[in-house]
Amino acid sequence: MTATTLPTPADHSITPRDRRFGREAAAPRLWHGGSVEATAIYNALSTTFPAGEAFFVESVRAFRNGAPPKLAEEIRAFTTQEAIHSREHDAFNKRATLSGYDLTKLEAQVEKRLAITRDRPPIVSLAATMALEHFTAILAHQLLADPRHLARAEQETADLWRWHAVEEIEHKGVAYDTWLHATRDWSPWKRWKVKAKVMLYVTRNFVVDRTAGALELMRQDGVTGLNAGRLLWHLWVRPGMFRKIAGAWLKFFLPGFHPWNEDDRHLLGRYEEIAATAAPSARKVRRAV
Ligand SMILES: [Fe+2]
Ligand SMILES: [Fe+2]
Repeated sequence: MTATTLPTPADHSITPRDRRFGREAAAPRLWHGGSVEATAIYNALSTTFPAGEAFFVESVRAFRNGAPPKLAEEIRAFTTQEAIHSREHDAFNKRATLSGYDLTKLEAQVEKRLAITRDRPPIVSLAATMALEHFTAILAHQLLADPRHLARAEQETADLWRWHAVEEIEHKGVAYDTWLHATRDWSPWKRWKVKAKVMLYVTRNFVVDRTAGALELMRQDGVTGLNAGRLLWHLWVRPGMFRKIAGAWLKFFLPGFHPWNEDDRHLLGRYEEIAATAAPSARKVRRAV
């Protein structure tokens, strides 16, 4: 597949929605239906976003020179969306801190992982971003496809996660298309080898680090030892987010994979209202680039 035959739907556009969440009233500490483990895993995920999504943006932008005009425009919209996600998750993380959680250990682990990748050539950062963006997109798909994941969550916080999920699906092809463009001179085998290796590496780190981070937050709520096994049940059994994304994760390794091989824009329509109902009405979206 070359950069000139991208399967991103031709009529697809990426629309940054400058939303703000949770500024008016404080959500309860256990905002996810009073569940220690559900709150912990989402809080652990959110801890990665401010630094992680800034890293995604810098990794993709490093390759924007010479990109075809459509891709260059998509990179701009992707950058704007991720910048706003970083801002909202930074605010969310501050609220978690105010409610008593200490996130410093989790944040330090994110910085440590990013520093290792930043020490490698820029194409490695792009590959890691491309792999993690697939991860994010399949998590987002699952989150929107199955309302049970957020059914018991406090309303506005659930909206934050759904809004983020909508935009992750919307821009899911951008890092991948940038990767296709940046590696257009590589052989198919070299491309596959690098992307497979990087995906295995980031997946291992993602699962290990998010689980460890959630366990640390559960410890801060006094849930330890065998009781903390509830987290594994939540992740792998019911609602079982990690188990449910396994099939979509595997597809990444198929020859001819592209994030838009699965056109899941029907999920966006369902949540478009949430995503677009701007509390700060008609707030102008600042271009981050
Ligand atoms: Fe994001
Ligand atoms: Fe993203």
